[in-house]
Formats: sequence, structure tokens, C-alpha cells
Amino acid sequence: MLAKTILALGALASFAEQTIALPSDYHVSIVRDEVDVTAKIEVNTGKDHSTDGAPAEVLEALATRGEGNGNDTSIGSMPFSKRGLAYNDAGMANALGGACKKCGWGWNWDQTPNGLDGRYSFVPMLWGDRPVHTNRWAANAQKAIQNGAKAFLSFNEPDNGGQSNMSPQAAAEAHIKYMNPYAGKVKIGAPSITNSGASNQGVNWLNAFFKACNGRCRVDFCPVHWYSDAQWADTLITHINSASKACSGKPVWLTEFAPTGGDVNGFLRKMLPKLDALGSLDAYSYFMVAQGKLMSGSRSLSSSGQLYATL
Ligand code: BGC
Repeated sequence: MLAKTILALGALASFAEQTIALPSDYHVSIVRDEVDVTAKIEVNTGKDHSTDGAPAEVLEALATRGEGNGNDTSIGSMPFSKRGLAYNDAGMANALGGACKKCGWGWNWDQTPNGLDGRYSFVPMLWGDRPVHTNRWAANAQKAIQNGAKAFLSFNEPDNGGQSNMSPQAAAEAHIKYMNPYAGKVKIGAPSITNSGASNQGVNWLNAFFKACNGRCRVDFCPVHWYSDAQWADTLITHINSASKACSGKPVWLTEFAPTGGDVNGFLRKMLPKLDALGSLDAYSYFMVAQGKLMSGSRSLSSSGQLYATL
């Protein structure tokens, strides 16, 4: 896992003034433009959650900013903040994102961003193995890579009859055909599973998928979904841990989650800091940026949306 630190553009300027050559295991990239801060850059130290071995000038610049202790828990091993925007309407996602300092990426269950602001890393999804999805995939995947995509999602809830509804065997073959070609170019997600505990669903389905793959599927991370009453919030962490194990310790992404009842805002207050701090979790997106959920109107945030944007 790469350690990452966000620092403001001023720090970049001070590097430039001092003309410091960063070692080759340092990767510097602009990750986000902001109106007032202007821009931020990200430094991957190539070290595990530390800035050990960083040149003194880099450490000094980080310290000056009050950052750079390597403990920015909202950053996982992807080059964007963990918190994401799950949307159908990009205008809404951009409105929430505008208020959300920690939002770094977005996805819409589809293959093209459809208006998502370029400041967010768009993660395309193939969704299913029917021609309506697969016919467009090669062109859209290629375009996404050209536009800087960092990760691809494959099938949406194949363990759910109401979603992509695929057997582990069919999903393994389709994964090899449609996802393997992009390995090494972007991070590849396993099929996104539910938190059902049934023997043919959830993490059990994921285990069966890996068995059917028999080592032939290229997978860099495992996405999961979670829905339950807010009182069972702790099972969200258990679910992530089980998926991490099924995924051989590779990072987990929580791409849909929401309480089905109970105190939603209390749930967000309790769980967002935990998700930010969870080392096995690389990305998460609450279900979803839509009216009645994170939004109260087409451009206005609900109280939950306010929490998601500011916590
Ligand atoms: C569906 C998507 C849809 C999303 C949000 C998901 O359950 O699979 O097609 O865009 O919900 O409405």
C-alpha cells in the first residue's frame, strides 16, 4: 500500500523554489482544483503509511503545512480520497461534491461519466454480461483510460436476482473476457456483492467466484454493498473484514451502503470516521446522491448530505 499525503499547491511551489528532485518512487500529481486553495498535489512516498525516507525538504514542507504525518486516513491506496459520489444525475453529484472537501471519485453504475465534473476520478462499471452492457464496453473502457480512469468495476450484485444475477461460473468467464484485458492499466474490481448471508449470496458468492476463477481472474480489489438497520452498523465493518479475507487481503471498496431504517445521521456520524480510518478500505460511496437521500432538492443537500460533505 502506498502512503499518500495531500499538500497544498504552496508546498509544490516551495519544492520548485528549492529545486528538489524527488526520488523516482515519489509520484506527484494534481488531484483536485479548488477555487481558493487553487490546487492540491499528492505525494506517494511508496512507503507504508509513513514518510520514512522522504527527503528532509519534503518533510519540512509537509510539516509547515501541518500535514504529511502520513496519517491522512481518508486516503487509501488509490490516488484519490476514499469518499465517493454514487449518482445517476451528475448535476446533483457535482452540487454535493462542491461542498464535499473529501469527495475524490464518482460512479453511476454505468460506463461513461455523463457530466461528472472532471475533478472527480470517474470509475466506470460494466454492470452485467448482457449485450446491452458488453457491446459498449470496449469503446467506453478505452475512452475511460484515455480520460485518466484509475479503476474499473465489473458486475453489479451478480448475487442478487434483481440486479445482474450471474452465477459465479458465468461471472468468472465474463470477468476474464471483459476485465482481464485492462489489468495493469487500471485497478480491476471483482464483482460487487451484497451483504446477504445466504449460502449462494454475499461473501459466499464471492468465495465461489474466486473458486470458479481458479486463478485466472485479474482482481485488484473487492467491492461490497451493505444495507441494514442503523442499529446493526457494526456489521458493516464485519462485512468489510469478511470480504477482505475472501479477497486474499486485497483492498475492499464499499460502493453502496445505507441504513434501511433508524437514525441515518447518527449512523453517518458514527461510521464515516471509522470508514476513513479503516486501512483495508480504499473507497466508499453512500447510496446515494439523490433526492430523499443525500439531497433534498436537485441542487440542495439534505442534512445527511451535509454530514457526508463535511464530516
Ligand atoms: C441499479 C442501477 C441504478 C442505481 C441507482 C442500482 O441498484 O443497479 O442501475 O442506477 O441502483 O438508482
